[in-house]
Amino acid sequence: MSDESHLWSGRFESAPDEEVFRFQASFGFDRRLFEDDVEGSLAWAEALAAAGVLTPADAGSIRDALLQIRQAGRDDPGFVAGPDEDVHAFVERQLVERLGDVGRRLHTGRSRNEQVSLDLRLYLRRRLPVLQREVVALVAALADRAAAAEQTMMPAYTHLRRAQPILAAHFLLAHAAAFRRDHVRLGAARGEADAMPLGSGAVAGTSYAVDTDALARRLGFSRVTANSIDAASDRDFVASTLHACALIMVHVSRLAEDLILFTGEEFGYFELHDRVATGSSLMPQKKNPDPLELVRGKSGRVIGHLAGWLTTMKGLPSGYNKDLQEDKEAVFDAEDQVLGSLRATTAVVESVAVRAARAEAAAGGMLLATDVADYLVERGVPFRRAHETVGRIVRDLLAQGRDFDSLGAEEWQGYDARFGADAGARVTSRASIGARRTPQSTGPEPVANALAAVRAWVDAHNGR
Ligand code: ARG
Repeated sequence: MSDESHLWSGRFESAPDEEVFRFQASFGFDRRLFEDDVEGSLAWAEALAAAGVLTPADAGSIRDALLQIRQAGRDDPGFVAGPDEDVHAFVERQLVERLGDVGRRLHTGRSRNEQVSLDLRLYLRRRLPVLQREVVALVAALADRAAAAEQTMMPAYTHLRRAQPILAAHFLLAHAAAFRRDHVRLGAARGEADAMPLGSGAVAGTSYAVDTDALARRLGFSRVTANSIDAASDRDFVASTLHACALIMVHVSRLAEDLILFTGEEFGYFELHDRVATGSSLMPQKKNPDPLELVRGKSGRVIGHLAGWLTTMKGLPSGYNKDLQEDKEAVFDAEDQVLGSLRATTAVVESVAVRAARAEAAAGGMLLATDVADYLVERGVPFRRAHETVGRIVRDLLAQGRDFDSLGAEEWQGYDARFGADAGARVTSRASIGARRTPQSTGPEPVANALAAVRAWVDAHNGR
């Protein structure tokens, strides 16, 4: 490698140590920013020309060469490679190879410190919506399964103990609610990235008459960063992106855990499609939920990226520090893992079937204890007293291996005279669900409304 291929070669007598150079190079991963780097450079060349720093002819040559370089990268991804330290050095080398000294004028008044911030902001601005679309696809799949479940009942759990009967649709829509928040969070991270840092220079700003507002408009940003020192060191938008990604992983991991449990032999409320299950090399009977387990497993890694990145940022002095280069691998891997996990989870959800008989059989019995208490409350008994009475009934029934529906009228009345002959018939899972009336409840009407709302949200975000 000739000495000039290092961006700082003038000040040094010797070329860098090969191993150290490779250690601190980022081209191996920041080549993902290629398009964004070219985009930023096109805009910077225009800004320099408008400021009278570049002649129109030089600016035109730089523009044409950058477009050529971009096309070469689009035609052949293998083109974006070489001994360069990073993608910024790569693009500049390509430019100089084509234009000589004219290419050497582009970096006037610009620093890689602001350039790398710009590139990552441009990158996230175009990539976060891709994650958002995958979130919408998963919410749509949950809504479709909720519709297909119709009025099927299943137990809801607290402390992983059977609690109360619910509609299976209600369970599916609970997960949809979490993913809708993720969508908002991704949008907020994108909003943070939406600030244009050029004009900040290395740290103190720039002395060239660059119109930063025009640059921001040209690059599609809604604002310009407020302080050049902050612009060089600010990666809050990276932390917010990683936080949004980490929470998505928490949510897909929880959904995965629910489905792993509920599709297993012990619960059996849902059935995994063969397409998204795996067999065992030894045990012929096995149908394993490997994709869901992997989604759950990957959550640790993405949460790690957030924790790691916050730790990297916390001790940094003001201005640019090379530590900041660590942002990219965290972001790129978080993005890859979130995309892969969302797609795998969507495929599982799209094909999951409710096992209505199993689910409904588990949705009755002692789960109706609250409803028995409500029956007494309706007849004037204070809730605490009703709770106590029903507790006694439950204790007796459990000891005798019986259920509410085996109690005769006399037995009911033995516990409380206000139990009518209709008590046994009135206390059913279907009636329990039917009685839930607030908008966030599992009642058929609230669930139908919730489903309609989720579907309207999906349509609105699919641009339909
Ligand atoms: N590759 C560097 C990064 O990712 C680009 C900025 C380098 N700036 C510098 N002063 N070394 O952060």
